[in-house]
Amino acid sequence: MLWIKSLHIIFMVTWFSGLFYLPRLFVYHAMCEDTPGKERFKVMERKLFYGIMTPSAVLTVIFGVWLWLGYGFSGNWLYAKLALVVILIIYHYYCGKFVSAFKYDINQHSHVFYRLFNEFPVLILFAVVILVVVKPALF
Ligand code: HEM
Repeated sequence: MLWIKSLHIIFMVTWFSGLFYLPRLFVYHAMCEDTPGKERFKVMERKLFYGIMTPSAVLTVIFGVWLWLGYGFSGNWLYAKLALVVILIIYHYYCGKFVSAFKYDINQHSHVFYRLFNEFPVLILFAVVILVVVKPALF
């Protein structure tokens, strides 16, 4: 089971590398005014979202559920963790919507919006890692 946990953590890290970097690309893309620059950002965003982030998200969840069933864990820490993971998956989904909006040059948001949007995964990472490592007795 420790091999599964290793893979779970590895793919969580690769998922987060995209969750941190893709919104940063959105910041610069929203500020970009030249067409060659915009086309370059579209390629980077597409490859990052479909080539790294989405496969990593799927594998993090598969190995997480495998750990859950393998260890037979229960407890409020796990349910709180799963609730945060659902929020993270919704955030991931919106990243995909923004990749499409930029692809068709119909982005509606400013670089300021994406700077705030970029900060959100940090909060989730802190909360999830503390929940799963410390397993605090909640409510
Ligand atoms: C549906 C999604 C997920 C499920 C079902 C899940 C479930 C689990 C389970 C059962 C463990 C083993 C806990 C232990 O051995 O003490 C674990 C470990 C871990 N999970 Fe997840 N997880 C999920 C997603 C995530 C995400 C998104 C993150 C990162 C933000 C994450 C971070 C970790 C870490 C760091 C560990 C290692 C904890 C340790 O060894 O003490 N997991 N996960």
